[in-house]
Amino acid sequence: MKWKKSQRLFKKAQELIPGGVNSPVRAFKAVGGNPLFIQRAKGSKIYDVDGNEYIDYVLSWGPLILGHAHPDIVKALKKAAERGTSYGAPTQLEIELAELVLKTYPSMDMVRMVNSGTEATMSAIRVARGFTGRDKIIKFEGCYHGHADGLLVRAGSGATTFGVPDSPGVPKSYAQETITLPFNDVEALKNVINEEWKSIACVIIEPVVGNIGCVLPMPGFLETLRKLTKKNGIILIFDEVMTGFRVSFGGAQAYYGIKPDMTCLGKVIGGGLPVGAYGGRKDIMSMVSPLGPVYQAGTLSGNPLAMTAGIETIKILSKGKTYKKLEYIAGLLEKGLIDAAAMAGVKTKFYRAGTMFCTYFTETDVIDYKTAKTSDTSKFSMFFSGILKKGINLAPSQFEAGFISLAHTEKDVEKTVRAAYESFKEC
Ligand SMILES: Cc1ncc(COP(=O)(O)O)c(C=O)c1O
Repeated sequence: MKWKKSQRLFKKAQELIPGGVNSPVRAFKAVGGNPLFIQRAKGSKIYDVDGNEYIDYVLSWGPLILGHAHPDIVKALKKAAERGTSYGAPTQLEIELAELVLKTYPSMDMVRMVNSGTEATMSAIRVARGFTGRDKIIKFEGCYHGHADGLLVRAGSGATTFGVPDSPGVPKSYAQETITLPFNDVEALKNVINEEWKSIACVIIEPVVGNIGCVLPMPGFLETLRKLTKKNGIILIFDEVMTGFRVSFGGAQAYYGIKPDMTCLGKVIGGGLPVGAYGGRKDIMSMVSPLGPVYQAGTLSGNPLAMTAGIETIKILSKGKTYKKLEYIAGLLEKGLIDAAAMAGVKTKFYRAGTMFCTYFTETDVIDYKTAKTSDTSKFSMFFSGILKKGINLAPSQFEAGFISLAHTEKDVEKTVRAAYESFKEC
């Protein structure tokens, strides 16, 4: 496989853009080599500027659950663009997407559209603070909730990949308002809430942690979290920016049967365009300006193109056997990857929640940040490089989830599993 054009473009990009990328997770720093420059994508495949084809399990880091350039989305977007790309005034599309979201996530009575997951979590926390009159928040180690100051404390995703979970530039006084706890640690949670409940506005959590791979909640963890927060007047925020429509149609909250007070969404609800959303109980969301005093705004929020892509995506997802099909392909891939590692004699732990998955190069059960870090990242790098050369595109970090779309086929899975077996053997 040749990457000459990508290399040339990366050299140029590095002169103009920090690290040559507009989001650090796109860099190949953790795995070696240079990022691929992409020319086009269709269905389950992505094509780089050198003409190489890959089966894509990154899917723009999660949003493209229908696959790339789904014909219905493209058609709807073309039509929408002809009507104008932004008005800065309300549209019927915003009502339509809000209705679809609220119907699918009944824990929310009201929802506000924003432009990214970062904006969603940042705004939700501001509202939770405004509602409770308390300042502190609890987050869990390895959870990534976007790059707002107070959330870059023990953060996952690129922050973990590049070894800076606590970013410089975040004022100490601000970081002190964030309490971090190990995921799945019920005792630590109980202790902190018992001692500090009076000052805690909210707990924000990825109910399945996709930003250190794929870490599942242990039985009882989310239930205890719900009970403790309710008892102590603490707002429980489920950050379902990644898990929304992926763990199940109704997200992790439907799958695990937990009703959070607030929910953040992003990725899938924008169908590949920039969207985030936060919502929740009516009494809490009534705090949001102009209904209430907590300020939050956005020039392009509720953008008609983004709303269109979101509406079409959710409509397609809600059709009959969509999730059965997704589950079937995801299950095939799961079995194939587990078997391939075993046959190649490589010790791995595999986890999956709906259409999110991760293989760790460890013998330790992965239940939190600490155990995720037991994965042998040098082995992952070898595996990543090997499988990329065989036409499979994974995220360039051990600490990211892989994603499956409706466009992935049995044939894609077969090719992936064969490539994985060969690549495991090279580790
Ligand atoms: C769980 C979670 N929350 C928030 C974010 C931030 O979203 P965005 O990158 O759209 O700002 C991400 C991004 O990966 C995420 O995975």
